[in-house]
Amino acid sequence: MNLEKYIVKARPGVVGGKFEEKRPLRERIELPVKRHIFINRDSHPDADIYVAIHEAKDLPASVPDYQVPHFHNTDEFYYFIGNNPDLTGLEGQIIFEGRVHKIVSPACVYIPTGAVHEYKVTRGAGTVTVLFRNRGYTHEDKQPDLEKGNKEAAKFASYIIRPDVRPTTEIKYHTDAAPGVRYVFVDGKLRPEAGFYTVVRSVSNVQPTQANYVDKHTHNCDTQHIAIGTGPELTGLKIEFVIGDEKVVVESPVGVNIPAGTPHCQRIIEGSGHFLISCPSPTTTTVWFDIGNVPTSQRARLSSADESDDNERGQSGTRR
Ligand SMILES: [Fe+2]
Repeated sequence: MNLEKYIVKARPGVVGGKFEEKRPLRERIELPVKRHIFINRDSHPDADIYVAIHEAKDLPASVPDYQVPHFHNTDEFYYFIGNNPDLTGLEGQIIFEGRVHKIVSPACVYIPTGAVHEYKVTRGAGTVTVLFRNRGYTHEDKQPDLEKGNKEAAKFASYIIRPDVRPTTEIKYHTDAAPGVRYVFVDGKLRPEAGFYTVVRSVSNVQPTQANYVDKHTHNCDTQHIAIGTGPELTGLKIEFVIGDEKVVVESPVGVNIPAGTPHCQRIIEGSGHFLISCPSPTTTTVWFDIGNVPTSQRARLSSADESDDNERGQSGTRR
């Protein structure tokens, strides 16, 4: 098996590049953020998703607007992660239908299909992960409807979501041997209508002695993994992936797409940074275990597992 089709290093975003999607930018604007492309049709031809990161540092005192108001034919998500240990330290704003809403990290912003918006970072340092849930997205410039923006201001404000810190044991087949802090940015509990799940595991100074904390498993949907390090150019976080029977260690920045039904597991083995996992919500995990490799205590836990909903216990998952 060739793991290169699943795991690809991030590339610098080049406006007008060969596989670059047309973007809703103001003319002659120099972006105050640095773009890194993680998953697009160039890197992962089979993945129906798009993931890029806007890196913010040394921002000017007043950041100019760099987008024009527009909407998409697919849902979009932003994950604001500041450079402080608790993910604070980055601010921005999104204008939904002409009305400004402030974004303070850590934050998820859910932008439903059709909502007219325009965003920018405004202050601090960190990363904004930009994810389109379908890759073949298009955008259309559109003037905002301020009356709608004002009338529906509370609804739009609710699309800016403060992540929950939750234990790893919330997910079946995962143990609390996992390092760092697990932030749920969006899921069926936080914003059911988004139909999407993203967690960020934020770690600092993980040592190579780090124990395993995820058993090999499959999902009934594609899942994506994004590794962002806190070092220069987003380096500094090492992840071990097992896909099928192959094992590989990769360093950030890296984008990984695991197609539905592919047995895999992954763990952070060294360094500092943020590790994102995304998939549609709700989804079903089926454990895939080689009985010889699973400790007895875990085997009992695994065989008694029933509603194997990966996202949250209690959400209606399919039995498998
Ligand atoms: Fe997984």
